Amino acid sequence: MVELNRDVVIVGAGAAGLTAANALRKAGLSVAVLEARDRVGGRLWTDVIDGAMLEIGGQWVSPDQDALIDTLADLGLETYDRYREGDSVYVDQTGRLTRFTGEIFPVPPATEKAMVDLIDTLDGLAAQMDPDRPWEHPDAEALDRISFEAWLAERTDDQEARDNIALFIAGAMLTKPAHAFSTLQALLMAASAGSFSHLVDADFILDKRVVGGLQQVPLLLAERLGDDVFLGRPVRTLEWGDGTGVTAIADDVTVRARFAILALAPNLYPRISFVPALPRLQHQMHQHLSMGFVIKVHAVYDRPFWREQGLSGTAFSPYEISHEAYDNTNHGDERGTLVAFVSDRNADDVFRVSAGERKERILESLSHYYGPEAKNPVVYYESDWGSEEWTRGAYAASFDLGGLHRYGADLRDPVGPIHFACSDLAGAGYQHVDGAIRMGRLVASHIIEEARA
Ligand code: FDA
Repeated sequence: MVELNRDVVIVGAGAAGLTAANALRKAGLSVAVLEARDRVGGRLWTDVIDGAMLEIGGQWVSPDQDALIDTLADLGLETYDRYREGDSVYVDQTGRLTRFTGEIFPVPPATEKAMVDLIDTLDGLAAQMDPDRPWEHPDAEALDRISFEAWLAERTDDQEARDNIALFIAGAMLTKPAHAFSTLQALLMAASAGSFSHLVDADFILDKRVVGGLQQVPLLLAERLGDDVFLGRPVRTLEWGDGTGVTAIADDVTVRARFAILALAPNLYPRISFVPALPRLQHQMHQHLSMGFVIKVHAVYDRPFWREQGLSGTAFSPYEISHEAYDNTNHGDERGTLVAFVSDRNADDVFRVSAGERKERILESLSHYYGPEAKNPVVYYESDWGSEEWTRGAYAASFDLGGLHRYGADLRDPVGPIHFACSDLAGAGYQHVDGAIRMGRLVASHIIEEARA
C-alpha cells in the first residue's frame, strides 16, 4: 500500500478532474489524481477498432464552448469541420424520406409553423434563464413540475411537431424519454448551449472535431501531471469529518489531503463509502440525478458513398430506431464513417435482442436514410456506455421531474473538505466537455481561495 500526502486528492481523471489538477498545480498546490479505469479520459475515449479510429465517447466542439476551445489551443490541438455539404434527410411517421437543406425538417406547412412557434417560445424561455442558476427562472417551479412531453402537448395538437421538438432534447441530448424530465430541465439544456435554436442547428452544436481525437485533451492534461496520476485505482472509501482534511483509500494507494474533489458523475457517488456518511441533503439530492442512455453506433464503409448521392450524411427521424445520424469521416480518411445514435427506450429494446439482431435492426434503420449500401459496413461498433462500470450510461446525468428546482442550488456546494466537479453539474456547457472543464476550473479556484485563507 502506497501512502501519500498531498494538498488535494482528485477522484477521477476525466476532463473535469484533470483540468482541476492542472490549475491547482499551477497555483503551487500538490495533487494526486486517482482514476478507477486503466486509462484517463472517462467519457472521452478515442480508440482504434478493427483498423478504424473511432470516437467512442465525446467528440464535437461547438463555437460557444470557450473553455474547451481555450484548452484545445493551450494543448496545441487542431480542429476540422464536420462534413455538411449537400442535402440532409428526414423520415416522417409514414416512413417517407425527404431531402432538405437548412434546419427545419421538411414537414407540412402547419407542422412547420407549430415547430417554429415552439422553437420561438423555447428560445424566449431559455433567454430568461441563467444556466448556472436555472432555479432562479421566474417560472422555475411551474416549469419543473411539468414534463417536457406534457408541456409540448399543452401547446400544440400537432403530434409530428411535438415529436420533432421533443427529439432535440430527449433523444438527442438528455437521452431520456420526454415524459421523464421537466421542462425546466429541458430549458437548462437549451440555455447551457446558448439557446434552443442552437440545439436545432446541427452545424452549430456539432460543428467541429479534433484532429486525432478528443481524448487527446485528457491524455495531454495527464501528461503534464506525470506521476501524480494513478490509474486502475478506484477510490472505495473517503474518510473526512475530523476537521483536518480527507483520506482517500483506493486499491493499493491511500492519499491524505486537505481537500478532495469528486470529479465523477453524481450517479457514481454512492459507489464510495463516506466515513462519516454524507449529510442528509446529499443523500437525498444525489438520488434524484440519473444517467441518460444512448448507444453511439459507428459504421465505417470503403468510401463515403452517400456523398455520391449529394447527401451530407445528416439524417433525422423521431420514428426511426436511430433518431439521428451524421457523416463522421475522420480527417484525411478515404473511408467513410457514419455515426448514428439510438436513445432511451429504443436502446432498451435493442439490448433485449441478440448482438446480431441488434446490428441488423440498427443498420436497417440506417438504410432508410442512406439506401441499401448502409447495411454493409466494413467496420461496425457500438459504444455501450451503459455497461461501463465507471460511467453507467450516457451522455450525462440529469434531474428527475421536480428535482432541479428542489435541489439544483445545493448541487455544487462542498461538504467540508469535499468538493464536486463534473460536466453533469455544469451550467454553460452542461453535459459537455466544455462544462467539465468549466467545473474543473471553478472548483480549483474555490480550493485555491480556501487554501490561501
Ligand atoms: P468523466 O465521466 O469523463 O470522468 C470521471 C472519471 O471518474 C472517469 O474517468 C471514471 O472512470 C472516474 N471514476 C468514477 N468513479 C471513480 C472512483 N470511485 N474512483 C476513481 N475514479 C472514478 N461532450 C461534448 O462536448 N461533445 C460531444 O460530442 C459529446 N458526445 C458524447 C458522446 C458519448 C457517447 C458520451 C458518453 C459523452 C459525450 N459527451 C460529449 C459528453 C462528454 O464526454 C462528458 O460530458 C465529459 O467528458 C465528462 O467529463 P467529466 O470529467 O465530467 O466526467
